[in-house]
Amino acid sequence: MSIIDIIENKKAGRELTKTEIEIFVNAYTNDDIPDYQAAALIMAICINGMTVNEISNLTIAMANSGEILDLSEIAPNTVDKHSTGGIGDKITLILMPIMASLGIPIAKMSGRSLGITGGTIDKLQSIPGYKTDLDVEEFKKNIKEIGISLIGQSMNLAPADKKIYALRDSIACTNSIPLIASSIMSKKIAAGSKNIILDVTCGKGAFMETKNDAKVLSKLMKYIGLNANKNVMCILTNMDEPVGYSVGNALEVVEAVKALKGDMTEDVKEIILTFGSNMLKMAGLGDNLEENEKRVIEAIKGGKAYEKFVQLVERQGGDVSYIENLEKFEKAPYIVPVMSSRAGYVSELSAEVIGRASVGLGAGRQKKEDEIDPRVGIIVCKKTGDKVENNEIIAYVHANSPEKAEDAILKVKNAYTIIDKKVKKPAIILDIL
Ligand code: URA
Repeated sequence: MSIIDIIENKKAGRELTKTEIEIFVNAYTNDDIPDYQAAALIMAICINGMTVNEISNLTIAMANSGEILDLSEIAPNTVDKHSTGGIGDKITLILMPIMASLGIPIAKMSGRSLGITGGTIDKLQSIPGYKTDLDVEEFKKNIKEIGISLIGQSMNLAPADKKIYALRDSIACTNSIPLIASSIMSKKIAAGSKNIILDVTCGKGAFMETKNDAKVLSKLMKYIGLNANKNVMCILTNMDEPVGYSVGNALEVVEAVKALKGDMTEDVKEIILTFGSNMLKMAGLGDNLEENEKRVIEAIKGGKAYEKFVQLVERQGGDVSYIENLEKFEKAPYIVPVMSSRAGYVSELSAEVIGRASVGLGAGRQKKEDEIDPRVGIIVCKKTGDKVENNEIIAYVHANSPEKAEDAILKVKNAYTIIDKKVKKPAIILDIL
């Protein structure tokens, strides 16, 4: 069976066998087939879809392309968390130190930015010195000694996903349900946690634009998890507008640190409380969600959550003085306000348009080899439901050139719709499955 036969089969819309899928995954992981052949197959999958059997086989083949971690001895009640991607999504940076401070061991492997969505690893790398590429022994040592490690896909875990993920980004194949489900679940299975909580984002800035698609993806990931003997919970969250107020890597770290000290927007708070209370329940640390929420608030108020983040940064080689003094983060050379062109109420703030503006500024990648500029991004001052005066500042663009600033200002203006009628704040948690 050659790779050309496999591509031909998928191009014709036939179901691939387990063997065909394994041949492709192993050959691509070992560099035995070039990017263009892998791209052809991925595009055929994107267009023709996959059956549930194919998706399960692809997930397991990708998980088995590297090591499978065994955390049962050092962190038996760990809960892993993953988001299907969003704009301004800094939830992992806030939630995981809170959870570690409450006694849940956190062993998390995160991704880089994909399409218009940001990546936790790019955010962490904006902290000078922070090492995202630990080996298995260092990763386990940190979990054992300080109860948390946040790293990139550096260890030999699901290396097939690492390659396919970067390839998908460069060939417009990011928003495929079979590819997202297998990408996320292969990493989660390889990372070894028994409990997995998934933030399935839904709306204009997410891969899943409708609630229905988000539910299909959730059910698929739960099914794959069940077959791999994992407890999977999916929480559908609204991604019509950015999460919190910042979009861009260092800007989001700053917002996350402030949130860990208790200063957070209502949407971030709702997500943190919902995920935090459910994670405590999954870890067997309390069945009462209301009580669990109180413990999350206490961990923030008492400073334990912030201290855990500082400990994590220090342990992974980051310069803690940046966290202690957020002014140290280098600012973009051009910080330009965006003004509203009329008075009224914000009825829409398109996360998709803000995501595109932020990638254009250099906060994400247009090509897989692009360098990220940690300083750039957007601060939104007004969100859906907010009242706006004519000529009031609605956002700030942080740019590294006047041309990029100009382009982003136009996009940010277009991201806002302002109307005369009062508008209700949108729901943030859409469903729990
Ligand atoms: N996150 C992932 O890890 N993979 C995807 O495909 C999308 C979001």
